[in-house]
Amino acid sequence: MIYLDNAATTLIKPPTVGQAILQALGTLGNTARGAHGYSIRAADTVYETRVKLADLFHCQRPDHVVFTTNATQALNTAIYGVLSKGDHVISTDWEHNSVLRPLYRLQNEQGVEVDFVPADKDGNLDYSDFERLIKKNTKAIVCTHASNLTGNMTDLRRIGEIARKNNILLIVDAAQTAGTKHIDMQDLGIDVLCFTGHKGLMGPQGTGGMCIKEGVEIRPFIVGGTGVQTYSPTQPDRLPARLEAGTLNGHGIAGLSAAVDFINEIGTDCIEKKETALTQRFYHGVKAIDRVTVYGDFSREHAQIVTLNIGDLDSGEAADILFDEYGIAVRAGAHCAPRLHSALGTKEQGAVRFSFSYFNTEEEIDKAICAVNRIAKDV
Ligand code: ALA
Repeated sequence: MIYLDNAATTLIKPPTVGQAILQALGTLGNTARGAHGYSIRAADTVYETRVKLADLFHCQRPDHVVFTTNATQALNTAIYGVLSKGDHVISTDWEHNSVLRPLYRLQNEQGVEVDFVPADKDGNLDYSDFERLIKKNTKAIVCTHASNLTGNMTDLRRIGEIARKNNILLIVDAAQTAGTKHIDMQDLGIDVLCFTGHKGLMGPQGTGGMCIKEGVEIRPFIVGGTGVQTYSPTQPDRLPARLEAGTLNGHGIAGLSAAVDFINEIGTDCIEKKETALTQRFYHGVKAIDRVTVYGDFSREHAQIVTLNIGDLDSGEAADILFDEYGIAVRAGAHCAPRLHSALGTKEQGAVRFSFSYFNTEEEIDKAICAVNRIAKDV
């Protein structure tokens, strides 16, 4: 089997991730819910992981790294926690439903004004649109770091400058880039960085979080037990407890911690270099095939994703052939990215997404190119 669906979740994890989870299962108590050794061990594990993630993403304070169950929960927390009635927000056509649906809901239920920077028919954004769309009540820009459909990356430095100049918060969806691209949230001017643990970070599902710049106020999305300030009827003011009601996924966080150790050992630069080489190899291989349409701009920095269609073949059918006849796992269909599919004209056909990880090999890439070539000959 060749697993090329790493943008959905990485399947192959560093072996230390599973080992850390198993060890945590038998040794971790509940963070901040006791003073015994097991509880302290859990608190230490969770705190050490905050420190590692703060270092990785250049977040000023480890206590401003908040854990969630995934990027969707982090994005919902940031979006609902920052925007209120009367606010205006700018987003883009590249967004995943994890950004779009919270924004549509705020628009419908609270009258928050939402504008999208449009993608053209090739899927590109015009950055002057961010400035054009700013209004007096613009509170935030919410945008992805890389499209999960095309792999195109946003110029966060440029968007960060626009946000800073206009006193607007920048909330970033790093679901496709955390762990695989160098991210310095201070340098890029990011106020809230939302990430998932199970993709590029190579940790377990059920982990993720947000890194919050000091001074950014986020109202809690859910409230409840925190193990501290029990007699207060409201959620504690201090991070991270303010945004972490309920028992944390300590076991998963232990696995994520081991995953970050692995990334640090190899180095993000090295991981990025390998994944970029695999992505470029696949891109150049498939773009030369007749009847194959590749989406996205590969002349710029790009995520580890190549999305294509083969003639008029339905993308779901193509994915089934790839898996059934060639043992290659990919993701077809709409990828929870409705606005970008509409812009690209692929709403009906969908598209076939190949996405790579550090653990893929050149041999696997070449087999996948051959498979696409053969399917293209038959359609
Ligand atoms: N958001 C994930 C993807 O793009 C699941 O496939």
